[in-house]
Amino acid sequence: MPGWELFDENEKRHIDEVMETGVLMRYGFDGARRDRWKARELEHAVQKKTGAAHVLMVADGTAALTTTLAALGVGAGDEVIIQPFTFVATFESIMAAGATPVFAEIDDTLCLSPESVLEAITPRTKVVMPVHMCGAASRLDDLAAICREKNLYLVEDACQAFGASYKGAAVGTIGDAGCYSFDFNKIVTCGEGGAVVTNSREIYERADMYHDHGHDHTKGDRGAEGHLFCGYNYRISELHAAIGLAQIAKLENFLERQRANKRAFKEALSAIPDIRFRTLADPDGDSATFVSFFAPDEASARRAARALKESGTEGTFHWYDNNWHYIRNWEHFKGRKFAAPVSSDILNGMPDYSKRVFKSDEIVSRTISITIRLGWTAEEAITRAERAAIAVKKSI
Ligand SMILES: Cc1ncc(COP(=O)(O)O)c(C=O)c1O
Repeated sequence: MPGWELFDENEKRHIDEVMETGVLMRYGFDGARRDRWKARELEHAVQKKTGAAHVLMVADGTAALTTTLAALGVGAGDEVIIQPFTFVATFESIMAAGATPVFAEIDDTLCLSPESVLEAITPRTKVVMPVHMCGAASRLDDLAAICREKNLYLVEDACQAFGASYKGAAVGTIGDAGCYSFDFNKIVTCGEGGAVVTNSREIYERADMYHDHGHDHTKGDRGAEGHLFCGYNYRISELHAAIGLAQIAKLENFLERQRANKRAFKEALSAIPDIRFRTLADPDGDSATFVSFFAPDEASARRAARALKESGTEGTFHWYDNNWHYIRNWEHFKGRKFAAPVSSDILNGMPDYSKRVFKSDEIVSRTISITIRLGWTAEEAITRAERAAIAVKKSI
């Protein structure tokens, strides 16, 4: 998965081009920068890859989510429906926006269950935020239909799924807005970086202003314009964007390699009758960052995860035991341990999650994912896949 596996001279060239000017800021310094606009160029490249009408590069994926919510006017008193199987950044961004995270359940796509979203909607719900976990899309048609009917925003947390698509459209471009992460471990990396994509000019302009202290970049002279609303600093630097520019040019090649390597794992693992692969809402659009499967029960999943690690299969996850991607181990969140007192507007209406029993336990407790690497040769992928399949077969 991580794009850094295939760094080459191009990343260095783009970085050097920034260093030669000394301009690390994405705005201004028009004379000194010698017409080098890495962040702007990266926005155009993301636009071209995804087909989104508007793209805003930001500091990271968490900032992209927070910026999007602010742009939508989501804050105190509003609820955002998310899934309990995600990275903690999803709920962090909602709380940073001043809104309340509300957890629905996942289904065997490992993404938000539309049926469970229907049960979680209240008069305070403003956004449904599915997370395209482990590189593949959620059931977006169903979720979009619910949002249309209930007049809610659909915001796609596509931080793990840049390069994936759903029925021909890039994930992130189907809802009102979508967010990508280009952090150190993503298929396309900037080191740290993120993007907000949307087809709405209004959402884009509000996000653009919010992420740079409220500056209105449409007015030309940054700093001379008025103040429409207060913002923050979630800007990306030219250096980070430079790395992303080199990386995004290789996306098709990355996807091809990753998909071929994943096929080797699926082939080897499909000889094991006791496991079942994750359901993909659109198999053709899978970015193939992981191969995920369900063991018959929690105990056999734990055994399989151990056996995979012992077999040297790096990047194996039994998500139920993971500290950062499933609510079961989020003691800080469930115990309401925050760095500073949290507004009652956020906590109001948030159930006591330390007491709630999640139906998602039944799925996550049996789910194993293996990271698919970009750097493997075809032969290496086959050898590793066969070794992994032997480990799983023996342990289940
Ligand atoms: C589902 C999800 N949302 C948000 C983020 C946050 O992205 P970043 O690390 O760029 O802040 C991540 C990061 O891995 C993620 O997996």
